[in-house]
Amino acid sequence: MKLPQTVNILLLGSGGREHAFAWKIAQSERLEKLYIAPGNAGTRNCGVNVDLDPANFPALKQFVLNNYINLVVVGPEQPLVDGVKDYFLNDPEIRHIPVIGPSQEAAQLEGSKEYAKAFMARHGVPTAAYFTVTPENVEQGCAFLAEKVKAPYVLKADGLAAGKGVLILNDLQEAQQELRAMLDGKFGAASKKVVIEEYLSGIEVSVFVATDGRSYKILPEAKDYKRVGEGDTGLNTGGMGAVSPVPFATPEFMEKVRTRIVEPTVRGIQEEGLDYTGFIFIGLMNCGGDPMVIEYNVRMGDPETEVVLPRITSDIIDLFEGIAHQTLHEKTLEITPQTAATVVCVSGGYPGSYPKGMVIEGLPEGEASAPNGSVVFHAGTALKNGEVVTSGGRVLAVTSFGNSIPEATQHSYQTIDRIQYDGKYCRRDIGRDLL
Ligand code: AMP
Ligand code: GLY
Repeated sequence: MKLPQTVNILLLGSGGREHAFAWKIAQSERLEKLYIAPGNAGTRNCGVNVDLDPANFPALKQFVLNNYINLVVVGPEQPLVDGVKDYFLNDPEIRHIPVIGPSQEAAQLEGSKEYAKAFMARHGVPTAAYFTVTPENVEQGCAFLAEKVKAPYVLKADGLAAGKGVLILNDLQEAQQELRAMLDGKFGAASKKVVIEEYLSGIEVSVFVATDGRSYKILPEAKDYKRVGEGDTGLNTGGMGAVSPVPFATPEFMEKVRTRIVEPTVRGIQEEGLDYTGFIFIGLMNCGGDPMVIEYNVRMGDPETEVVLPRITSDIIDLFEGIAHQTLHEKTLEITPQTAATVVCVSGGYPGSYPKGMVIEGLPEGEASAPNGSVVFHAGTALKNGEVVTSGGRVLAVTSFGNSIPEATQHSYQTIDRIQYDGKYCRRDIGRDLL
């Protein structure tokens, strides 16, 4: 099976990841028309933004039928965890339209930490030891903390908690108190179940896999920068920057990732009969040269996508076709060896409260490319009275290439220095820890 030679695509989402997808899709000769729901002020340069809520599945159905959509690409996890793939498959009028992403059941690999840990255990994927706690066995949970693991103590809300559901604590009493608080609803329904994990020490790397449920392709790896402050200090954010490739992800290390993690993961998906045609984002810790899985996500990372997709030089619609029609093994993935770096500009105050509606000036015109080759991906922007304004915490992700990490980041900083809005902030040390 194949997609038609040229296709109409509906892309769901509105962040920097989705602008990077839209930008890459728009480069394909196989694109007829791209719609982004709802998109942002940047994606309108790559396709047509449509005022559709990705959570409103009946509205998505009407739209794909009315606009002869051939393929749906899902950016964020929420529609997948809510079953958008199943909604399409269960409706005879739209079941022929492939959705890039896993089924609701398979999306639990991200939607439930316990599901993911049990999956890893069944398939021998290396990960930290764990114990699942509910209000019924809280005493056992406290005992597990006291007897089975050492500080620092890692507590994770089982469900989706917008990246905030993980606590890492040094004091045993505090960990036990927080465990009870989480079970009492500290993170709402997401923490009615808590996974306690052994602490892994090492350096993190994000590995991305495209799969059709049988075969796979490993995409460029990336490292993201989660803390708001330079030197990895301050509060956690959605991500302040990313670089790819990652120097410590050597061919030897990546071969361990492939054989110990990617292969058993894809085999496990197949053996369990999970419907998974999409991207797997594996958060790994490099523990002294041995990769251990911290988490699975059932989508691409943000801001990692803003460096991963620009490094892919082959056609993305061909890749989608392989994923959607179980022909991924026939496809070739081409990757440039150049270094890509992205630096995220945020609103003043982020990740706490921040103002919206600040006018952004100095953006490169039209197609997002700046004179030094930077691409300005919009993350949280909107159009107001003909002007581009801030509309989120993460505002822009400025990606550039170079022959080294410092060269790539320097290009991004040059571009950022020409862009102005009230409260603009970025980390100036992206990639520096890797030198
Ligand atoms: P997660 O939401 O599972 O990605 O966790 C958020 C962050 O907490 C990760 O990116 C790690 O930095 C950290 N983390 C999670 N699990 C562990 C662990 N078992 N050991 C050390 N750090 C962890
Ligand atoms: N950058 C981490 C994430 O997308 O979850």
